[in-house]
Amino acid sequence: MTKYVAVAGKGGVGKTTFITLMLRQVLREKRDISILAVDADPNANLNEALGITVTSTISELLEENKNIKTLQDKTATVSFLKKLEQCLIKTPSFDFLAMGDPQGPGCYCYPNNILRMYLETLGSNYDFVAVDTEAGMEHISRLTIPHIDIMFVVSDSSARGIRSARRVHDLIRGLQADISEVYLIVTHTVENSLESLADEIAQTGLQLIGDIPLDELIFQQDIIGKPLFDLPDEAISLQAVDKILRRSNILKDL
Ligand SMILES: Nc1ncnc2c1ncn2[C@@H]1O[C@H](COP(=O)(O)OP(=O)(O)OP(=O)(O)O)[C@@H](O)[C@H]1O
Ligand SMILES: [Mg+2]
Repeated sequence: MTKYVAVAGKGGVGKTTFITLMLRQVLREKRDISILAVDADPNANLNEALGITVTSTISELLEENKNIKTLQDKTATVSFLKKLEQCLIKTPSFDFLAMGDPQGPGCYCYPNNILRMYLETLGSNYDFVAVDTEAGMEHISRLTIPHIDIMFVVSDSSARGIRSARRVHDLIRGLQADISEVYLIVTHTVENSLESLADEIAQTGLQLIGDIPLDELIFQQDIIGKPLFDLPDEAISLQAVDKILRRSNILKDL
């Protein structure tokens, strides 16, 4: 069975960072599993964090193919599916797909239907699918992502951030999306952050699965422009992500 994991949370709180470090630690523990990383953020930068160059996105293809008006349009559908396959970037450790900007006005129903079928089939070919989303969760609300086993709502260490996580949680509950477990992660923590935020955290209704401390090594990696994926082993953020993976049982059954 494929395990689907996704993140949600307001802008700049550390979603992409968490997904990147999670992928790294999952690969460390389970070398031989197949992984698909999906960047569903229009402002795509998961690729940079992972050290990958993206040439085309799914949304660009949707835009080019919005003239497909029916699934019976076989030639157009087959050619669209072929192009979708070309969007998939293969690396020795995992495969990668960038969704790009959600579509503008106009009817994209048929290409969207094709995309949904494609993602369902594609995802089921992997053991582990990790999805980095944008704050608005456009792709989740459009149900382009069919099922999520674990959703991590990420917040920074501010009362405002935690309140936003609460709203994201409400949004998730209001969606018809099929999400099995939802956890809270607080990032950028310093001493006593969690104690100070305890009341706000309690009001989110989310289970706090762990925190990721403010990590000097992440700053350094950003400054020299190196992929976060190559963070040194001793990084405190990596150890924190390890704990989160264990507590959430992500690696179970993989
Ligand atoms: N634990 C941490 N310690 C230090 N810096 C961090 C930490 N987590 C994230 N950052 C830094 O914070 C910034 C925002 O992180 P990131 O890009 O992961 O957030 P995001 O939620 O994905 O943002 P967006 O909503 O724009 O996609 C980045 O510069 C990242 O390097
Ligand atoms: Mg991001």
